[in-house]
Amino acid sequence: MKILITGGCGFVGVNLTRYLLKKVQGCKITIVDNFSIGRREYLEEALKGFAEDRVEIIKGDIRNRALCEDISKGIDSIVHLAAQAGVIPSIEDPFYDCEVNVIGTLNLLHAAVKNGVERFIFASSNAPLGEQSPPVSEGKTPKPLSPYGASKLACEAYCSAFYGSYGLKTIAFRFSNAYGPYSLHKNSVIAKFIKDGILKGRLTIYGDGTQTRDFIYVDDLCHAIYLSLTLPASSSEYWGEVFHLGTGKETRIIDLAVMVKGLFDKKIEIVFEPERKGEIKRNYSDISKAESMLGFKPRIKLEEGVKKVYEWFTSLKYERIKNATVLSGSE
Ligand SMILES: NC(=O)c1ccc[n+]([C@@H]2O[C@H](COP(=O)([O-])OP(=O)(O)OC[C@H]3O[C@@H](n4cnc5c(N)ncnc54)[C@H](O)[C@@H]3O)[C@@H](O)[C@H]2O)c1
Repeated sequence: MKILITGGCGFVGVNLTRYLLKKVQGCKITIVDNFSIGRREYLEEALKGFAEDRVEIIKGDIRNRALCEDISKGIDSIVHLAAQAGVIPSIEDPFYDCEVNVIGTLNLLHAAVKNGVERFIFASSNAPLGEQSPPVSEGKTPKPLSPYGASKLACEAYCSAFYGSYGLKTIAFRFSNAYGPYSLHKNSVIAKFIKDGILKGRLTIYGDGTQTRDFIYVDDLCHAIYLSLTLPASSSEYWGEVFHLGTGKETRIIDLAVMVKGLFDKKIEIVFEPERKGEIKRNYSDISKAESMLGFKPRIKLEEGVKKVYEWFTSLKYERIKNATVLSGSE
């Protein structure tokens, strides 16, 4: 199997590359990344001593249509993760968000059809839905609140259209809040709590901490992607579809903070700051469609996953964590 992973040097991409190399015997992976957020070193470090010869890393931008056509030649499946992945940057510059997310995705879909790629798996998010009463599910009417949500929704629509018009086997996965190792550059809450615990001995909660999220360990997402790459091609029910991926469990931020605090063997303070404007109060996913149609079942419990991430962070040198630049704040 030859797989092209876009954005393969970012958080999900590094984890997915490792996961697929272990899981799919003999698969070859091509990565394209423009290194705007991810770094070649993140991936090289994660693959050290393990299957480096099965991975090719190409520096390139998915806004370049000719490049997309070139790199998808001879590819069986594309997993499209590259994105402008932040809500705030999308509000600051909706044109850039649109160019990377919408035009970039269109370039890749077009290239996939042109080169006879069989499957196209797209990383969407809950952002297309906007504020909804939880749990979020595929049946809710999307009402994006940010350009990021709008661009992801447009991409979901193009995935459906490319299945309908050209028979490209697409799936759009709406990831809930993902966490895991290789997230040094992320500002998502689990990575942030652990980094703040290490560097400051203090975890900051905005609001009273009763806001909730659905945290999914990155390997569970990777497994869902693996399932989508190995589903029988002949069955038509899942192609062109959208699926929510999460755990279906709602976790309060205060409970998460207490959990992270409990991992440290030094004193950790939890402090409260005023809540941030526009923050969604409750959010978790109904994953029954992915469970019943794809056989998806999240396996890593939050306590276990958070401990793994804590161990990964504490295996890094203090100076590296201190000097790490936060480049990506998605979800
Ligand atoms: N991490 C989450 O919790 C989460 C939740 C919902 C959806 N998602 C989606 O999953 C995908 C992966 O997210 P992530 O957390 O790994 O983000 P990330 O920012 O860590 O990785 C994205 C990668 O895409 C690359 N990239 C950006 N623009 C590019 C371009 N024009 N051409 C080529 N490469 C480009 C970046 O350099 C980076 O390596 C994104 O599409 C994101 O929207 C993530």
